[in-house]
Amino acid sequence: MTETYYKAIKEAVESEGIITDDKVLTGFSGHRMVRLLQNVAKARLDENTCYVEVGVFQGLTLLSVAKELDNAQVYGIDNFAFFDREGKNLSIVNERTQKLNLSNVNLINQDYEDALENLSQHIGAKKVGVYFVDGPHDYRSQLMCLELIKPFLADHAIIIIDDCNYRHVRQANRDFLFNNKEFKLMFQSYTRCHPLNLNAEERKEAEKDFWNGVNVIVKDSDNKLKEAYPPTHRDRTLYENEHIIQTSKHPDAIVHLLPLSNAFGGLLKSLSKKKAATAGAFNMMNTYSDELPKNNFNE
Ligand SMILES: C[S@@+](CC[C@H](N)C(=O)[O-])C[C@H]1O[C@@H](n2cnc3c(N)ncnc32)[C@H](O)[C@@H]1O
Repeated sequence: MTETYYKAIKEAVESEGIITDDKVLTGFSGHRMVRLLQNVAKARLDENTCYVEVGVFQGLTLLSVAKELDNAQVYGIDNFAFFDREGKNLSIVNERTQKLNLSNVNLINQDYEDALENLSQHIGAKKVGVYFVDGPHDYRSQLMCLELIKPFLADHAIIIIDDCNYRHVRQANRDFLFNNKEFKLMFQSYTRCHPLNLNAEERKEAEKDFWNGVNVIVKDSDNKLKEAYPPTHRDRTLYENEHIIQTSKHPDAIVHLLPLSNAFGGLLKSLSKKKAATAGAFNMMNTYSDELPKNNFNE
């Protein structure tokens, strides 16, 4: 399976992206990301295995995979609580499923933790062959998305994680890999910052590519790959700060004060004891990915 996965990833990297340019499907994922998901799903899945994703939004990745499969089911988990001001995303996914005439799509309209803790209620005896993580991006959710899927994974399952430019996402992946040595990092690719902070030309290229960074992890059942980890920062200040926020009087409100840190940046920076953890170049969506590799294979 390892060689098949390398081939599927390489084909996606060298391709123009999404297999069929379908006007029905739009969303937040990069074109080569969609192609990668389609390629590995076609290579790995059969009637005993399925595709599961956390983070459906309006169905670009879920339905793009579903329409490439003959005999495998896809399951999409989303509580439709984000990027959905008008509450329309669930019906958009259902309408698109009908328009594309797909009968292998299953939506799980729940918080990811509730859904994954009880996944067998949805997928039955099937095992998860392909798992796509593109939901909440906080450190704990990223780690729990990986931990909770373990009991349901098939041998040689493949896990694709979106938005790995973010350093806390890479940290969650590293923590998972370090503590679960049967899983190996197979592929990683990044851009120098979040695409919304890139210039227009670079952003267009990111749209065609993996958008905001990707990690591919495999359940290396035959122990073929060497240990490898996404790059992370050793500094722990932000994780230590989380304890202070958790125990403060108004923990939910602190996020509303963050715009002030942009307005009073210089002053606040002088209060910081550990500058390495707080040196963001942009007002929002700092990823700390400026020196990370593009299209790096663990071979
Ligand atoms: C970036 S979007 C996913 C993009 C999608 N894969 C596509 O193809 O366009 C992230 C999704 O994760 C969902 N999400 C965020 N937190 C969640 C949670 N705790 N449980 C379930 N879904 C969640 C949001 O509702 C949102 O639709």
